[in-house]
Amino acid sequence: MKVLIVGSGGREHAIAYCTAKSEKVDKIYCTPGNAGIAEYAECAPIGAMEFDKIVAFAREKEIDLVIVGMDDPLVGGLVDELEAAGIRAFGPRKNAAILEGSKAFSKDLMKKYHIPTAGYENFTDPDKALDYLETAKFPIVLKADGLALGKGVLICNTLEEAREGVRTIMLDKKFGDAGNEMVIEEFMTGREVSVLSFVDGKTIKTMTSAQDHKRAGDGDTGLNTGGMGTFSPSPFYTKEVEDFCNKYIYQATVDAMKAEGRPFKGVIFFGLMLTEEGPKVLEYNARFGDPEAQVVLPRMKNDIIEVVEACIDGTLDQVDLQFEDNAAVCVVLASDGYPVAYDKGLAISGLEEFAKHEGYYCFHAGTKYEGDQIVTNGGRVLGVTAKGKDLKEARANAYVATKWVQFDNKYMRHDIGKAIDEA
Ligand code: AMP
Ligand code: GLY
Repeated sequence: MKVLIVGSGGREHAIAYCTAKSEKVDKIYCTPGNAGIAEYAECAPIGAMEFDKIVAFAREKEIDLVIVGMDDPLVGGLVDELEAAGIRAFGPRKNAAILEGSKAFSKDLMKKYHIPTAGYENFTDPDKALDYLETAKFPIVLKADGLALGKGVLICNTLEEAREGVRTIMLDKKFGDAGNEMVIEEFMTGREVSVLSFVDGKTIKTMTSAQDHKRAGDGDTGLNTGGMGTFSPSPFYTKEVEDFCNKYIYQATVDAMKAEGRPFKGVIFFGLMLTEEGPKVLEYNARFGDPEAQVVLPRMKNDIIEVVEACIDGTLDQVDLQFEDNAAVCVVLASDGYPVAYDKGLAISGLEEFAKHEGYYCFHAGTKYEGDQIVTNGGRVLGVTAKGKDLKEARANAYVATKWVQFDNKYMRHDIGKAIDEA
């Protein structure tokens, strides 16, 4: 079959890598893709939000299955448009992708169906939000309702900071229309864990756990980024935590979406906080995480296309989802200055080294070809990933592999997976 992947990051590279391994697949296309994805797929320069062009491309190339990797096109309804054109697509429809697209929606859903999460209020009126803050406890968390590249969350320690935050989100519209509504929620403390899952509308199968490092600098300092590195599995995701989440969070979310007339098919990413009162949902995403996919997918034993088709066909209950009994660590190589300002177009060398070592992967995030040369084309450039028998070995392997690749202004965190020493 012919598969089209929509997206251009390390997550889509990991999806392409798994898709290329599938015996069911003859040909892979990617829009727009990147220099790493081009190893497996024919890439076409069509933006992820150019729905008409994507549908026309899928028709022209007689695509059998489209896998949408990114949040924006999912929330915008790309899957609905593909389906309307008679093209099979993997990912939630617009009415289900709202689980990620509106934080106010997801909070109300959790409240209505008693899914554990932080206490909160939603606001469409900035004055009411400011009034609410007068009697609130600090620190407190402000969230723009809509998609904001993972940057629409402000943790405020004082009343003054929080007032400023409301103005930033709702009046200055720093995150655009994402700030038309906002959530103000209780600050929680604990370990964070990411659990991705496959969902077919009624059945949910969770993948192995992972943890992201969102801040730019070592020791979780600096600005929030799209993610500077991940490890999988999380040693803090114990059997007890998993049992709790199975009982109160995972199936409950899928059932809630079904009951609301918004059956969810695709990937639900549960951002969890392990609080003293038990696990609570920080956020939902309606897709694989990036860079979570880079440490989860290489450990999956199943043929990804079989699982994806089972989600579309509603037969996920018949799939035995299995992961390798090992670990993986991904260290993001960024361009120094990310996430604010950074150069692009810098030549990258050493990439050929990865093909010589089993269990090592270099997932491209922001790269492109300039002639025959691969150059940087984004803030996050590469996700250097390695497996190991356990987390410590995987981490050591990943950091060795970061030395294989060179480009000017190469920047990375040096403490990805350090938390595992505390487990
Ligand atoms: P989100 O996009 O909702 O996952 O938020 C981004 C990050 O902000 C999370 O990964 C947490 O580190 C932090 N965060 C979000 N909500 C809370 C909360 N209620 N309490 C503490 N930290 C939070
Ligand atoms: N790594 C966080 C995300 O994909 O949202």
